[in-house]
Amino acid sequence: YHMRLSDETLLDIMARFQAEMEKGLGKDTNPTASVKMLPTFVRAIPDGSENGEFLSLDLGGSKFRVLKVQVSEEGKRNVQMESQFYPTPNEIIRGNGTELFEYVADCLADFVRTKGLQHKKLPLGFTFSFPCRQTKLEEGVLLSWTKKFKARGVQETDIVSRLTKAMRKHKDLDVDILALVNDTVGTMMTCAYDDPYCEVGVIIGTGTNACYMEDMSNIDLVEGDEGRMCINTEWGAFGDDGALEDIRTEFDRELDLGSLNPGKQLFEKMISGLYLGELVRLILLNMAKAGLLFGGVKSSTLLTKGKIETQHVAAMEKYKEGLANTREILVDLGLEPSEADCIAVQHVCTIVSFRSANLCASALAAILTRLRENKKLARLRTTVGMDGTLYKIHPQYPKRLHKVVRKLVPNCDVRFLLSESGSTKGAAMVTAVACRVQAQRK
Ligand code: BG6
Ligand code: GLC
Repeated sequence: YHMRLSDETLLDIMARFQAEMEKGLGKDTNPTASVKMLPTFVRAIPDGSENGEFLSLDLGGSKFRVLKVQVSEEGKRNVQMESQFYPTPNEIIRGNGTELFEYVADCLADFVRTKGLQHKKLPLGFTFSFPCRQTKLEEGVLLSWTKKFKARGVQETDIVSRLTKAMRKHKDLDVDILALVNDTVGTMMTCAYDDPYCEVGVIIGTGTNACYMEDMSNIDLVEGDEGRMCINTEWGAFGDDGALEDIRTEFDRELDLGSLNPGKQLFEKMISGLYLGELVRLILLNMAKAGLLFGGVKSSTLLTKGKIETQHVAAMEKYKEGLANTREILVDLGLEPSEADCIAVQHVCTIVSFRSANLCASALAAILTRLRENKKLARLRTTVGMDGTLYKIHPQYPKRLHKVVRKLVPNCDVRFLLSESGSTKGAAMVTAVACRVQAQRK
């Protein structure tokens, strides 16, 4: 019951998030703000004039990719990408930081060799899906690891120089990192390449986060008042200062205690793909212990952390096959569910994933309202670029999210645009602009 949020509560959360954004943007209030509102130094959406050949890295989501991106000649709006996935074993992403960057550089070198691009001077755009404090596009100090990453000795260091240093070992690599881009920013730019109204990027995947175009005059932390700049909100940390304690449940607390970063990313832990399955598992376990499910029997698999994943939640909520999927998944967990158990478990999944969509909708509604007010419009027409596995694989998630957003902000006409090609296309646009600026300087 505690996970079912009324419209009134959602509006209240929306108002709290509006206040958080204000706090994060203020020079004096930012140091104590949990929602960091990080300037990205991306000042405009693509205009179609971008072109060139780039390398790209995409690290921090469920998959690590290295890519070659070819953005066509001016005015043609054609992007071609070739990519290669590389594994990210836990020993690497939770080991020694220097070794993590050496591994990334090794993968890049392998890709360059495979594509026959050795010794070719290529600019690189780095999609790095973690909170970084930037003072320019080609630099970013990691504030904290989130999600599954926890490599030692990286926090508070510049990611671009760490990778540049690691690349020096490969004499045939001639790469210049021109842009460090959060995945939300890459997503917004990818979608903006096709739809110029796009000014927000949202990820609902392993983690969750959003960015949007803010008026420079409202960004205290960056000099100048002209034009706009993209702000990476890092909304996953909403609530880290206790602002959401009234809506957090005993299951959220338990999940947090067992996580890699206790006390951090509390909003993310109620929403994103890395955590939804685990929340469901904790609830089912509690119900089994109380004798409300499986005749009070708990299997050893159900007792094991991480055994229910978000893909299972999505499968259990499918329209037609959902009930059969639920039975199959529960049997795989070593349980003997009755028909009523299966229906109840489906219900639990729906409550958990619906809460996730509701919470995202509240924060997104706050961003949309801010955009509308910045533009002094009675009605806003805008596009939100979307990505992330939870949003993409869950059968009902997008529809629910869209509906709640439209209910919370009836004065905004929102188009939700799914980024078909991930963040990379957008990151390449940012790199292309950086490349042009660099050439003009010379
Ligand atoms: C991808 C992006 O499309 O979406 C990644 O290219 C990003 O950079 C990801 O992190 C988010 O989704 P997930 O589900 O892989 O975490
Ligand atoms: C986490 C990261 C954030 C990223 C999001 C989605 O919240 O801190 O930078 O955008 O996950 O991948």
